[in-house]
Amino acid sequence: MTSPILVTGGTGTLGRLVVRRLRDAGCDVRVLSRRSRAAEDDIEFVTGDLATGAGIEPAVEGTEIIVHCAGTPKGNENETRNLVRAASRARARHLVYISVVGADRVPIASRVDRAIFGYFASKLAAERIVADSGLPFTTLRATQFHELILMVAQQMAKLPVIPAPAGFRVQPIDADEVAARFVELALGEPAGLVPDMGGPRVYSAAELLRGYLRASHRRRPIVPLWLPGKAARVFRAGANLAPEQAVGRRTWEEFLAERLS
Ligand SMILES: NC(=O)c1ccc[n+]([C@@H]2O[C@H](COP(=O)([O-])OP(=O)(O)OC[C@H]3O[C@@H](n4cnc5c(N)ncnc54)[C@H](OP(=O)(O)O)[C@@H]3O)[C@@H](O)[C@H]2O)c1
Repeated sequence: MTSPILVTGGTGTLGRLVVRRLRDAGCDVRVLSRRSRAAEDDIEFVTGDLATGAGIEPAVEGTEIIVHCAGTPKGNENETRNLVRAASRARARHLVYISVVGADRVPIASRVDRAIFGYFASKLAAERIVADSGLPFTTLRATQFHELILMVAQQMAKLPVIPAPAGFRVQPIDADEVAARFVELALGEPAGLVPDMGGPRVYSAAELLRGYLRASHRRRPIVPLWLPGKAARVFRAGANLAPEQAVGRRTWEEFLAERLS
């Protein structure tokens, strides 16, 4: 009997794929979720909330490896602090954290910056909580997943005219490719901050939207929207990109063709 691997956020886009890959590798998996569920496919579900701390102790009990995928659109600083506290008490031997490319490069200098880009500051704060925890850890930063871009495009396409942040570029990546790397890291030795993972191509925001409109047979005018602030300026300079680490293979077009077919 091996100790189960805890996957926080194991019900989310990345987490579900991580859980599947860990199961395929023959690992026992425990998922922490805010909603209670019965065990399925030999996966144990533990109910808990990382934001309040409820249920974390039983979730980490007896686990040696914790794969931390839980997060919100605002980041996961507080959730990570609570998890790290419990993981330290449980003497976990490997905490694996997923962050975002640019977490260390997007400055939050004003309320405007925080309102639009506070997620990046929260991810960096969580990275530091992990690194300073004293726990053996691995942190991987990835660019935006295709699923996230699709969700944004679907929301935007409800508008008669779509605003696209001027000068913004994105390097979307396949979440399952990130899951594969994340599982490889989780099952390896703690490695600290590892090289970034970026998608195969860099697109302008307008290009991504046009790709979605084409694939979903819609027509909408796209207008550039100038975003103010320091954080937006570094975004325009490409702070969220990892062109030297374009290791992803599946393109936005391939993802759309499959998802919208
Ligand atoms: N999406 C991207 O483009 C992207 C890019 C780079 C890095 N990341 C990072 O990758 C991670 C996963 O992203 P995702 O897009 O896969 O997320 P997602 O689909 O939105 O799923 C979020 C997950 O977090 C869990 N969760 C949220 N709040 C929680 C709380 N208070 N307590 C316990 N669980 C909680 C949810 O579980 P329940 O609802 O079942 O409780 C859900 O499983 C996040 O840390 C994100 O910052 C994402």
